[in-house]
Amino acid sequence: MKPSERHYQEALKLIPWGTQTNAKRPYPAFDAVMPKYIVRGKGCRLWDMEGKEYIDYRLSLGPVTLGYCYEPVDDAVRAQMENGVLFSMASPIELDLARLIHEMVPNAEMVRFMKTGADVNSCNIRLARAHTGRNMILMSGYHGYPDWFQTADSPTNGVPEFMKEYVKIIPWGNCEEAERLIKQYGEQIACVISIAYDFNEDTSGDFIRFLREKTREHGILLVMDEVLTGFRLAKGGAQEYFGVDADLAGYAKAMANGFPLSAYAGRKQYMEGLNRFKITTTYAGETLSIAAAIATLKIMQREPVHEHIWAMGRRLMAGFDRIAHDLGVAGHAAGLPPGSFLKFDHADPTYHDRLEYLWQRELYREGIFANNRWFISYSHKPADIDESLEKASRALRRALEAEPKERDTIKPFWW
Ligand SMILES: Cc1ncc(COP(=O)(O)O)c(C=O)c1O
Repeated sequence: MKPSERHYQEALKLIPWGTQTNAKRPYPAFDAVMPKYIVRGKGCRLWDMEGKEYIDYRLSLGPVTLGYCYEPVDDAVRAQMENGVLFSMASPIELDLARLIHEMVPNAEMVRFMKTGADVNSCNIRLARAHTGRNMILMSGYHGYPDWFQTADSPTNGVPEFMKEYVKIIPWGNCEEAERLIKQYGEQIACVISIAYDFNEDTSGDFIRFLREKTREHGILLVMDEVLTGFRLAKGGAQEYFGVDADLAGYAKAMANGFPLSAYAGRKQYMEGLNRFKITTTYAGETLSIAAAIATLKIMQREPVHEHIWAMGRRLMAGFDRIAHDLGVAGHAAGLPPGSFLKFDHADPTYHDRLEYLWQRELYREGIFANNRWFISYSHKPADIDESLEKASRALRRALEAEPKERDTIKPFWW
């Protein structure tokens, strides 16, 4: 038994799932190749418990925008650590970070900090409900673990059944359903909360623009969940990239290079609700993460971080097209360069998932750590992309060979 396997078996006795995050659960069918633990990262590379090296395209599920152990960010954190981590009054650097966010996201007229993506989405919903005096929310996309988001499985997951009354789901991208729900519930709706982009093939921004138009017509707030898109698609996130002006937005991944910090921000008239009622938590002003975010955003302002991420993403996507062509598989690069994928085209709609599954397994074997979306950081250099494509091509060749033999035994992912 590998040391990591032994460790994992011990962890399962004390830690449900053996991990804290759904997407970090080891996938049993990939047992032989998928690392159960990561012990170190540097730049765009990772090392597992057995010392095997990977080029990483998951970036800790999104947050590591600049790269692992990125010196200027870690230096800023070390310097702040000399002064203390957390105080009983605000730290002056909170204003420095609020100013930076306001510069990069112009309609962030006021800003507050939290720790996670789920936090800031929940805060924005509170603000929208408080401002409108309405209870219902419409939502689209993944927003985290809170009760208001997890109503679909209630009450078996501990979420009270009555909460379903207050939350209606719009399948992402479905304008007709959005319009139908907005018409049906009209003045009961406090806000529509949505991701702007689902890292899928629809890169048009049409859905979020449609939501903006319809919410405005009905006096409903638009809350954008920019947890994945913020500071990633552009300096001003999806609002800038798609040209949409949200009333409130939530940011988390990408803003502090992996340090735990999130921010909610928006128009003063809504954010000022926080002067009237409490949303308060002890660790939101924790200074190490704030120092990390200041360093990260300043680097984004003065260096061509986004230009680089887009250029490397385009290089990867061109490679995806080339690999598909060379191996004679119908497929094309899809999505936006900061988080793209290779879409396999086939008359059988299950083919893509099946081949992607086998490809992922073979990618782990090659030392490529990638999920179904390939996220790019500032530390991915042309040589890393080219090395990855060479390995990805070998992995895909093996996946294509395996597909007819394993077709009937492939188990779908659970996440
Ligand atoms: C769009 C989006 N919103 C919210 C969340 C939840 O963020 P967190 O896991 O930090 O609570 C995620 C996490 O993946 C996300 O991708």
